[in-house]
Amino acid sequence: MNQNELKKALAKLPLGDVRYFDSIGSTNNEALAWATSGAKDLSLVIADEQTAGRGRLDRKWFTPRGTALAFSLILRPTAEEKPHLTRTVGLAALAVAESLRRRGLVAQIKWPNDVLLNGCKVAGILVESVWSGDEVDCLVIGIGVNVRKEAAPSVELLQFPATSLEASLGPAVEPEEILHDILAGMIALRPQLASDTFIAAWEKALAFRGEQVQVEDGNGNTITGKLLGLEPDGSLQLSNEGGKSITVRFGDVRLRPQA
Ligand code: ATP
Ligand code: BTN
Repeated sequence: MNQNELKKALAKLPLGDVRYFDSIGSTNNEALAWATSGAKDLSLVIADEQTAGRGRLDRKWFTPRGTALAFSLILRPTAEEKPHLTRTVGLAALAVAESLRRRGLVAQIKWPNDVLLNGCKVAGILVESVWSGDEVDCLVIGIGVNVRKEAAPSVELLQFPATSLEASLGPAVEPEEILHDILAGMIALRPQLASDTFIAAWEKALAFRGEQVQVEDGNGNTITGKLLGLEPDGSLQLSNEGGKSITVRFGDVRLRPQA
């Protein structure tokens, strides 16, 4: 990515400090360490390549050099935001989806932490916390977006198909502008985090709404049901065959359309 273009794009935003790396293990690791040592609210870590990018539960996230956006935004939540921090993954997912929709794409959120284009993963989100006693002191919102076709790992490495912005938008895609729009989107949505309209917007952007889905947990259990929407804390709401409502909480869960 062109660092001058990047600086120009970011200059328009009310960020804290920014750390840029040509190559790094994981921007989330850097941001977690920085948050622990006093980073300002809305500080940003961004890298052109990650050599140890992470998804949930230490699953690998691929970020080959020059092909993707990989960044981590540090939030120092306010007292008003603290009761609603489980919604933060939605804040990020909505901002990513909205930045793509502005470019004419039909982006949807695969609950809880992925953004899809044409049913394939184009972006992933990993939110992690720094605690101070039993209070969250900082959140790190890590976002990876596949920009070039080369960013999307080959199908045999994946459990869910991947795609890139280039596959939908052609080679003229501008990563710096997309980064700007995602960050601006999160900053603009943040004051709405506690509102019902926020949950409604998140719900509206969900993939597979009204469809039969299955949710697998890390212990080999599978729940099937119709995807209804979200609980106030951002948990997923399904209904089973008998019409009984089921709540799926955040955790080691993987959502799939029913085969
Ligand atoms: P799934 O994607 O199977 O639903 P998940 O959402 O539980 O799984 P996560 O931990 O959220 O998995 O995401 C990490 C997964 O994303 C990895 O296991 C890998 O299969 C896939 N992956 C890694 N890098 C990329 C990438 N650049 N683009 C798309 N998918 C990727
Ligand atoms: C997922 O779908 O599992 C989430 C992937 C999150 C990847 C981003 S890339 C920037 C940040 N640094 C990391 O190591 N992970 C997140």
